[in-house]
Amino acid sequence: MSTAAPAAKHNMGRPEPRLESRLKVTGRARYASDLPVNNPAFAFLVTSPIARGRIAAIDARAARAIPGVLDIFTHENTGDLKPIKYAPGGGGPATSMQDFGPDIHHDGQIVAMVVADTFEAAREAAYAMKIAYDAERPSAGFDADGVTQAAVAKKTPNAGDAETAFDAAEVKLEVAYETPAQHHNPIELFTTTASWDGDELTIYEPSQFMYGAKANIATKLGMKPEHVRVVSPFVGGAFGCKAQLTPRTGLVALAAKKLNRPVKLVATRDQGFTIATYRAETRHRIKLGAQRDGKITSFQHDGFEVTSRPDAYSVAGVEDSARLYGFGAVKTGVTIVHADRNTPGFMRSPPVVPYIYALESAMDELAVKLAMDPIALRRRNDAMTDATGKEWSSRSLMKCYDEAAAAFGWAKRSAGPGSMRDGDWLIGWGCASAVYPTHIGASTGRVTLNSDGRAHVQVAAHEIGTGVMTVVGQIAAEHLGIRLDQVQVELGDSRLPPVPVAGGSNQTASCCSVIAQACDALMGRLNAAGGNSIEAKFEQLGVSTLEEYAEFIPQEARPNPGAEPSGNPIKKLYAGVPTLVGGSRGKKNMYAVGAEFVEVRVHARTREIRVPRIVGAFAAGRIMNTRTAHSQYMGAMIWGVSSALHEATEIDRRNARYVNDNLADYMVPVNADIQQLEVILVAEEDHEVNPVGVKGIGELGNVGTAAAVTNAIYHATGIRIRELPVRLEKLLMA
Ligand code: MOS
Repeated sequence: MSTAAPAAKHNMGRPEPRLESRLKVTGRARYASDLPVNNPAFAFLVTSPIARGRIAAIDARAARAIPGVLDIFTHENTGDLKPIKYAPGGGGPATSMQDFGPDIHHDGQIVAMVVADTFEAAREAAYAMKIAYDAERPSAGFDADGVTQAAVAKKTPNAGDAETAFDAAEVKLEVAYETPAQHHNPIELFTTTASWDGDELTIYEPSQFMYGAKANIATKLGMKPEHVRVVSPFVGGAFGCKAQLTPRTGLVALAAKKLNRPVKLVATRDQGFTIATYRAETRHRIKLGAQRDGKITSFQHDGFEVTSRPDAYSVAGVEDSARLYGFGAVKTGVTIVHADRNTPGFMRSPPVVPYIYALESAMDELAVKLAMDPIALRRRNDAMTDATGKEWSSRSLMKCYDEAAAAFGWAKRSAGPGSMRDGDWLIGWGCASAVYPTHIGASTGRVTLNSDGRAHVQVAAHEIGTGVMTVVGQIAAEHLGIRLDQVQVELGDSRLPPVPVAGGSNQTASCCSVIAQACDALMGRLNAAGGNSIEAKFEQLGVSTLEEYAEFIPQEARPNPGAEPSGNPIKKLYAGVPTLVGGSRGKKNMYAVGAEFVEVRVHARTREIRVPRIVGAFAAGRIMNTRTAHSQYMGAMIWGVSSALHEATEIDRRNARYVNDNLADYMVPVNADIQQLEVILVAEEDHEVNPVGVKGIGELGNVGTAAAVTNAIYHATGIRIRELPVRLEKLLMA
């Protein structure tokens, strides 16, 4: 297959508007809970007000007496749901705590679900449930009594003798950082609708991986996956929290079966904080040793992450921080801290957001110690080979710095903290690197071309807001030699050919690779016939339509000859297990990179922080659509500002309970907080990452922002805050 650099016949890379944009802005796009089912009953969840202990007694009499109540589900009558093992990583259960009692594992655990004829009756009855608990004192997180610690199970990168190199270094930096818990808060809530037709179950649920959901729901209900269909046409924000099976889904399916009626659940905003996953708080200890000329001889990074009691979830971003620069020697480790909390999970750029924030802050602190320009320090340590000896397939980091610095006007920066001022406002300029591993997975897809030039593309992709529908349409149009408006893209249903989880920023690369392959095979058959036009070729073939189904397996995922058929990545994909390769796992490091530059203005007296200007330059291989790519980066950098200055899930440490579990108190930037935002798409070609040359971009843009903002705050004020988010009270108290 040679699809690495097809002639730009049509529209790859062009800023095509999203195919679904009109549907979305006119309210006609149907999300999972909008899809009509016949005569649905409505569910409402009851969640635990304690974080640790046991249910002592359940009194449902008052609830059952509410008119319209059909049934109430608790741990006492849901024993038909099968146990299922915790399996993070795409479609698997998001937590091993899948029971509804009597043991309570965390605050906000589901303990009951009321189903009624109306939503209002279900809600009223849920509030009328009387549940008595034997409460125990919970451990909320870091530093709490009763937590346990463990080293992360996976091996983390080590190279050379980092401790000796640190001791011998001319300049040393030893520093600690901390990031808070955060919740995704997608605007579309966690919803599930279950509908049975005999033994056939249909689940309507927003999903980042329909085949994974299908397989795991089947396990949960003790049925065969072929009897489960998952429908998820559009997803109203996901960011990692809709990639896995959470306890509500089996419960709703069981209720629908028992009541012999479709059941619809739309969980509330506050319930979303505890019935799904979140980004847990992290701590970092970093040691950097360098020569006076800036060459870093030693890098040590120890991460600490909070997780639940039973599940060893961790993001372990030292895998990526250890490779970002040509460190002389590297020593890394990750410790997980088990507390009485719900199990954390993937949240946009899971490993790199906290770990690269720490590294990129430390790089800025080292630059200050060396009296070196922060860009020059990165240039001094820019390397195509990491400390473990692994090469990068391509790396355009300094090109990103050069383009962003020029656009930002970095040359006009005066180095001293507090040296730039505009009246009462202290001006600070800071920068930081962004990096995200490039992933791709085995994928399948089907393309049908009609003699009139219209094509139909079928792929079980997930439109989580990224624009995948549009780029799949573009790649098909290009490889079939037709216009984009001649292509219809069908996605969002587990009856379509599977692609991996829409996570790890692999979806565009995976879907485009398989659809390009299908289109090329189809055109091969068509071109074997004579004739100059599509119509003439079809006439020669004597058919009016051609169909091609393709299976794409990335080079590094190809099974060894003689391997078990069950190890075949396509078989595994159909069974709901994606095989993602790339990043640091292959023979070469495969990463997208970027450089982010931020101007902050800090009021000299009130310490109010403003961000008038951000410039981000990103290199991520081939860009399929400059408009959707631009949107991804813009949204990501806005989220980065959020991480730097606003966002934190506040935890009541006495009760191990989230306090600001609503959109009024969970702080995010508003329009007034975001002013000038410039995105630069840096040209890069990489033919090793995958046939279409695409690196993922969905999780790149928000990686460098937080450190760029805090580095700029240091430059404005001379105050280094090492604990996110930086709110003005931290600057006032410093
Ligand atoms: Mo993304 S957090 O890999 O769904």
